Amino acid sequence: METQNKSFPKHFFWGAATSAHQVEGNNHNDWTEWEKLGRVAHGEHSGLASGHYDRYREDFAIAKELGHTMHRLSIEWSRIEPRPGIFDQQAIAHYRDVLLELRRLGIEPMVTLWHFTNPIWVQQLGGWTNKQTIDLYGRYVSTIVRELGDLVTYWITVNEPTVYSSSSYLFSYWPPERKNPITAWSVIRNFVAAHRLGYQIIHRHNPNAKVGVANNLNHFIPARRNNYLDRTLATFSRYWHNQWWLDQTYLTQDFIGLNYYFYHPLRFKISGLQNLLRPEPQDRAPMSDLGWEIHPHGLGELFDFLKKYDRPIIVTENGLADAADQFRAAFIRDHVAEIEKALQRGVRIQGYLHWSLIDNFEWREGFAPRFGLIAIDYATLQRTIRPSAYTYRDIIRQRSA
Ligand code: FCB
Repeated sequence: METQNKSFPKHFFWGAATSAHQVEGNNHNDWTEWEKLGRVAHGEHSGLASGHYDRYREDFAIAKELGHTMHRLSIEWSRIEPRPGIFDQQAIAHYRDVLLELRRLGIEPMVTLWHFTNPIWVQQLGGWTNKQTIDLYGRYVSTIVRELGDLVTYWITVNEPTVYSSSSYLFSYWPPERKNPITAWSVIRNFVAAHRLGYQIIHRHNPNAKVGVANNLNHFIPARRNNYLDRTLATFSRYWHNQWWLDQTYLTQDFIGLNYYFYHPLRFKISGLQNLLRPEPQDRAPMSDLGWEIHPHGLGELFDFLKKYDRPIIVTENGLADAADQFRAAFIRDHVAEIEKALQRGVRIQGYLHWSLIDNFEWREGFAPRFGLIAIDYATLQRTIRPSAYTYRDIIRQRSA
């Protein structure tokens, strides 16, 4: 591939990501039902979220101004198919407009087909515990691909299925708050099948499509380097969290989507599974507003781990909650530097998408965490570009010069 600036390929994609439920507003799905139970921080509801459903043009215009060349968004299944087998033409037309707007601006869309939310009727049938959901998902994907496939090359079948299975069915942290390893296991198996089905459906429609998964990969290390139990725990976590899913699915991933947030030093404790997996704070690295430590080199380590799958990689999410915007500029610079080093080592990386373009509803944590390159004033829905977004723009310019 032709290269510029020593290491970045000419067609390297730069941009940011969002997901429907977190930004659109006025959704009606299994999450909105769960939000009514008061489980979200400060009893918040996603409500109008970031108002992106109506303001996507304004948001994309800013993305363009900031030099973005790719944008990752998700389609909300509950809008498309509010009742079983009934597809809402207005919702489909809306997403057509969204995709056309990105194309008009010269921004390549990346479309996620499932990002943590289900139509209420799917959840009532048992959601992802029910094998039937695989076929229901397939029918929804077929509709989207038929209606919108002419505008999309890059697809994500499912976002972070391993995180969802454990948060919703093992740790009881997200809806539907189950705590059953056997159920969690059947959920992740159903996602494997759904991903493969989605991959086939998309490729039947367009053999040149690029289909992947947004995989949440963590960099796990033993907290005490020479401790056998810590090392075993790190090995087990790497296998279970990073490798198992990829082993099942990499043959049906045209590219590997990598969501990178966590570097976990693990210390073995005999105090229940959740504590066992709780990371130890490490060497005073700077922390995001959510207490997530910032370790850019973990990204480099994960690139090396992924080499064995021999697939191009796109960083589909990477970011931090930072309301004061004190760490974000350096965060982006340092993670991009890891990409640059990996490219020089011969790793095939094709893009970097920052999480997120705009502040949004961070699931159980609600609206307090500020992940956006663009700040949202939730009282007025006014947009303000954060200074770090300009640093990112300058990085993009420099690397594309
Ligand atoms: C990822 C999710 C995304 C967002 C970020 C902070 O795990 O895919 O929706 O919540 O974390």
